[in-house]
Amino acid sequence: MKTISQASIFTYWILLLVMMLIGCSEKQTSKPSTSKPPFHVETKSLRPKEKLIPKPIIVTVKTREAYQWYCAQCHGIEGKGDGINAKFLTVPPRNHTKPQYLETRTDKQLFEAIKFGGLSVGRAPCMPAWGHTMDEEIMHQLVRYIRELCQCESL
Ligand code: HEC
Repeated sequence: MKTISQASIFTYWILLLVMMLIGCSEKQTSKPSTSKPPFHVETKSLRPKEKLIPKPIIVTVKTREAYQWYCAQCHGIEGKGDGINAKFLTVPPRNHTKPQYLETRTDKQLFEAIKFGGLSVGRAPCMPAWGHTMDEEIMHQLVRYIRELCQCESL
C-alpha cells in the first residue's frame, strides 16, 4: 500500500511539473502575438481618408512654362498685357498683374474664359479658347497663376 501511494504522489508531481511547464510556455508565446501591430487594420483605415483629400491646385514650373508658351505673346512675359501681339488686337489683352478688374471675377469665370474663350464670359473673342489645347488641370493652375500675378482673390 505504502509503495503505491508513494508512486501516485510521484506521478502527481510529474503531472504538476508538466502543467506548469505548459502554462509557462503558453504565456511566453502569447505575449509577443498580442503586441504585434494589426497591419491590416491600419492600412484599411487610411485608404478612405486618402480618397477624400482632393488633389491640390498648385502652380508649378509646368504652369509657368504653359503661360510663357501660350499666353505671353498677348498677355506679356510678366502678364502685364504687353505681349508682342498686343498692339495688333482691337481689344487690349487683360493685364494680369492689376487686381482692380480681376478681383471682380471669380475663379470659375477666369477658368471659363481660358477654356471656352473670351466670348463665353461676355468678353472679346480675341481671347482664344484653350479647351482643345491643354487639359483642365493646367487651366485650373493657370487661374491660380493669374491670382499670383495680380496678388488678388475674387471679392
Ligand atoms: C491672341 C491673344 C491672346 C492670347 C494668346 C491669350 N489671351 Fe487671354 N486675353 C486676350 C484678350 C484680348 C483679353 C481681353 C478680353 C476682354 O477684355 O474683353 C484676354 C483676357 C483674358 C482673361 C480675362 C478674361 C476676362 O474676364 O476678361 C484671362 C483670365 C486670360 N485672358 C487668360 C489667358 C490665358 C491663361 C492665356 C494662355 C493660355 C491667354 N489668355 C492667352 C488675348 C489673348
